[in-house]
Amino acid sequence: MQIIEIKTTEGKQSEILIGEDFRNIRNYLPVQNVIVIIDENIFDLYPLFAENFKCIKIHADEKNKTLETVEHIILQLTELQADRSTFIAGVGGGITCDIAGFAASIYMRGLRFGFVSTSLLSQADASVGGKNGVNFYGLKNMIGTFNQPEFVICDINMLDTLPQKEFRGGLSEIIKIALIKDAEMFDFIEDNTATILNRDKTILQKLITKSIQHKADIVGCDEFEKGKRRILNFGHTLAHAIEPNDDISHGFAVSIGMMFAAKVSEHFGFIANNIVERIERLLAQFDLPRCTNIDEKLLFNTIVADKKKNNDAINLVLLNGTGKTVEKNIKINDIEKLISIFCNTTKNSF
Ligand SMILES: NC(=O)c1ccc[n+]([C@@H]2O[C@H](COP(=O)([O-])OP(=O)(O)OC[C@H]3O[C@@H](n4cnc5c(N)ncnc54)[C@H](O)[C@@H]3O)[C@@H](O)[C@H]2O)c1
Ligand SMILES: [Zn+2]
Repeated sequence: MQIIEIKTTEGKQSEILIGEDFRNIRNYLPVQNVIVIIDENIFDLYPLFAENFKCIKIHADEKNKTLETVEHIILQLTELQADRSTFIAGVGGGITCDIAGFAASIYMRGLRFGFVSTSLLSQADASVGGKNGVNFYGLKNMIGTFNQPEFVICDINMLDTLPQKEFRGGLSEIIKIALIKDAEMFDFIEDNTATILNRDKTILQKLITKSIQHKADIVGCDEFEKGKRRILNFGHTLAHAIEPNDDISHGFAVSIGMMFAAKVSEHFGFIANNIVERIERLLAQFDLPRCTNIDEKLLFNTIVADKKKNNDAINLVLLNGTGKTVEKNIKINDIEKLISIFCNTTKNSF
């Protein structure tokens, strides 16, 4: 097992336990008064949770990542007589961890909480870093908190039951981390696509560890996203506009969003076309989408409504090589044009 610590501004500590066995969860919990908020699929697949804990089940769907679901959880917490000494364990992928962390953060002004992170996407990215929250009327993660889980168990063996489509979606966020922080990691992924798709455990553990190390470094410098942490949003401006308008997963939307950001980076002369081609080839090898059929006006309007707008411009994280980023404030009108170019040049080309 490898342990990565995230030190928070308030001096709290968050421990990410990579390669820990989920069956050891008791080692990280108080002796009593634990409530598990769990993805219903994990509840069925891993009976240990039902056998040992009071459980609140949720249906992990992006459309369910809402205040209504949080209300439903809070109602059950009151019925289970949760009080300020209750510890919440969120068990599931990114959707479950985002919701459970948020519910724990607001119930009675905040309970202690930790996660068992079960999807590749949540192990490599979502469950780490302390962002919790829900969507609001189609706007992604509009409501939420910064609050670190006390522990995150990333049991690689739990990925055995993860459907292949979800597995591929997780690779998208791993590629994101490589692109923004680690050129060598990007080369390594390019050289090992077949082994990765075969879910070689040693390689998976290596990629998850690297992703978490990079994220922990970024979050350690900028817990509340005042600056540096923004680079983690690479590919997410368009992704967050696609998600409410399409029935695709977060990982798939990020793949399209990264393709857009790469092309915009080339458009502004930050990277050469051969890097865009390498990214496109890698995403294609993992069968990840690189274009969208969503109406360009709808995409643009959703971006404008999104929270990351800054007066009449949007801050886009772009690439300045593999493993390097540059931020650029782009006028809203230019964003509209860039989306139009992207949609029209990529629509039938993949
Ligand atoms: N908080 C953050 O910093 C952050 C970062 C990135 C993404 N996110 C959020 O994460 C969410 C996406 O997370 P996700 O891709 O894990 O989605 P998810 O939680 O929906 O999980 C994907 C699917 O896989 C199933 N699943 C998960 N683990 C499994 C396992 N071990 N075995 C069998 N089935 C399993 C789930 O039941 C679900 O159907 C999005 O809402 C996104 O916004 C948050
Ligand atoms: Zn993401």
